[in-house]
Amino acid sequence: MMEVSLIVAMDANKGIGKNNDLMWHLPKDMNFFKTTTENHVVIMGRKNYDSIPLKYRPLSNRLNVIITRNRSFQADGCLVFHSLEKAFDHFKNDKRELFVIGGGQIYALVMEMDVLSKMYITHVEDTFEADTFFPDFDHTLWETSKLLDQDQDERHQCGFKTLLYTKFDK
Ligand SMILES: NC(=O)c1ccc[n+]([C@@H]2O[C@H](COP(=O)([O-])OP(=O)(O)OC[C@H]3O[C@@H](n4cnc5c(N)ncnc54)[C@H](OP(=O)(O)O)[C@@H]3O)[C@@H](O)[C@H]2O)c1
Repeated sequence: MMEVSLIVAMDANKGIGKNNDLMWHLPKDMNFFKTTTENHVVIMGRKNYDSIPLKYRPLSNRLNVIITRNRSFQADGCLVFHSLEKAFDHFKNDKRELFVIGGGQIYALVMEMDVLSKMYITHVEDTFEADTFFPDFDHTLWETSKLLDQDQDERHQCGFKTLLYTKFDK
C-alpha cells in the first residue's frame, strides 16, 4: 500500500521560502532531509525544482518527480506529472515512501487530499521575511514525537526542532 509523507522546514510564522529560495542554512536539517528521503521518491512543484541549484538536481539517490501544468516541460532524470493525483496513481503499488517536498503550492494541494500518514516538520526557532508559507492544519489529528533538537551554534544560525507527525487514523 502506498505511503505518502511530507517533509518541510518552517519558521515560527510557518514561512518556508522567499524569492524562490530557502531562507536559512541549517546543515543538520539538510542532512536530515537527505538521509530521510534517500532511496525513496520525492515529489515537488516545478518552482521548487527550479530553485534547486543545477549541480544538486535531480536530487541524488532518489526518484525525482515534478508536478507542472506545462505539457512540454521535461527535466533530465526526472518523472513529470500534470497533477498530484496522477503522480500518486502511478506509484500506488510502489513500496517506496512518497515524500512530498514542496513548495507552498504543492504542500497546500496535498494537505487538502487526506492522503498523508506522516509529516516530518522542522520547526525553525526564528522568524524570516517569507513570501511562501505552509498551510494551517488541525494539530489535534496528529500525534508528535521529537526526532531532532538542535541549538543555535557556529554552524546553525538558529535552533530548530524536528518533529514526526503521525496521523491518528492512518
Ligand atoms: N522550507 C522548506 O522545507 C521548503 C521546501 C520546498 C520548497 N520551499 C520553498 O518554496 C518556494 C516554492 O514554492 P511555490 O509555492 O512558489 O511553488 P511550488 O509549489 O514549488 O511549485 C508551484 C508550481 O507547481 C505546479 N503546480 C501547482 N499546482 C498544480 C496543479 N494543481 N496541477 C499541476 N501543476 C501544479 C505549477 O507549475 P507550472 O508553473 O510549471 O505549471 C506551479 O507553478 C521556494 O521559496 C522554495 O525555496 C521550501
